Amino acid sequence: MYSEANENKIDELLTHYPVKRSAVLPVLYIAQEEHGYVTDEDVKYIARRLDMRVNEVEEVVTFYTMYSRKPVGKYKLQVCRTISCQILGAEAITEHLCRKLGTGLGETTSDGKFTVMEVECLGYCDLAPVLQVNFDYHEQVDTARVDKIVDELV
Ligand code: FES
Repeated sequence: MYSEANENKIDELLTHYPVKRSAVLPVLYIAQEEHGYVTDEDVKYIARRLDMRVNEVEEVVTFYTMYSRKPVGKYKLQVCRTISCQILGAEAITEHLCRKLGTGLGETTSDGKFTVMEVECLGYCDLAPVLQVNFDYHEQVDTARVDKIVDELV
């Protein structure tokens, strides 16, 4: 199902847990890394590998915003929408990003580069508002700063 390297990673991960299902979060990351998002086939395969029901894997993958069930852009622009960030202008930043990139919230630009998303607290509330780009965090952002961040990614 996956590359040999990723299959080996899964085998190795399974040695870390007393029950296979405990590895579901990191295995979902591997699936997402392999395909860019978690496909229907990934959900079925992971359920088989981890002795879970398909709906149990589906519940996990749809609960956490770090997993995508549909294709996303090369860069996921994730704006925190929780209270501290909201108070300090997160909504304006999200709207600015959508306007700048000509896309809607949760949608991907036609060139496949960017997906604008809202996510829950990223854990940097004292440095709100926060934008996460893939695995990089940018704190105390404003529209000028997000412009610079995005322009450097193009
Ligand atoms: S509220 Fe945005 S990082 Fe916590």
